[in-house]
Amino acid sequence: MKLVLVLLAALAPGIAFSAGDPETGKAKSATCAACHGPAGISANPEWPNLAGQKEAYLVSQLMAFRSGERNNALMSPMAANLSDDDIAHLAAYFSSLGNQ
Ligand code: HEC
Repeated sequence: MKLVLVLLAALAPGIAFSAGDPETGKAKSATCAACHGPAGISANPEWPNLAGQKEAYLVSQLMAFRSGERNNALMSPMAANLSDDDIAHLAAYFSSLGNQ
């Protein structure tokens, strides 16, 4: 899996994308659980599930919230202070979860 991510990063030089570690992501996900659920399944119909989502998509959306390209009153402040590493780890964690 890590090798795939490294290859992906090499093939997509426009996207800053480093291989994330799910365990580190899990440790950083406590605040996310308030809205997205402890296992990445949200209890609110207006808040998206993250469990099992594609890792690269999670990275790109967190970067879009951070940059302001994607804007949401609840979510944008959550992404504002994430580092590239935080984003990589969180994306690795949520994508590693089952989505059922
Ligand atoms: C206060 C509630 C709240 C918290 C806390 C929160 N989010 Fe969100 N998040 C949202 C909402 C609401 C959306 C949907 C925004 C929209 O409609 O554009 C969202 C969207 C997302 C998306 C895009 C999902 C998609 O399918 O496009 C990602 C990725 C995400 N959040 C990750 C996180 C991570 C990682 C954390 C923890 C650092 C976090 N969120 C914390 C409310 C929250």
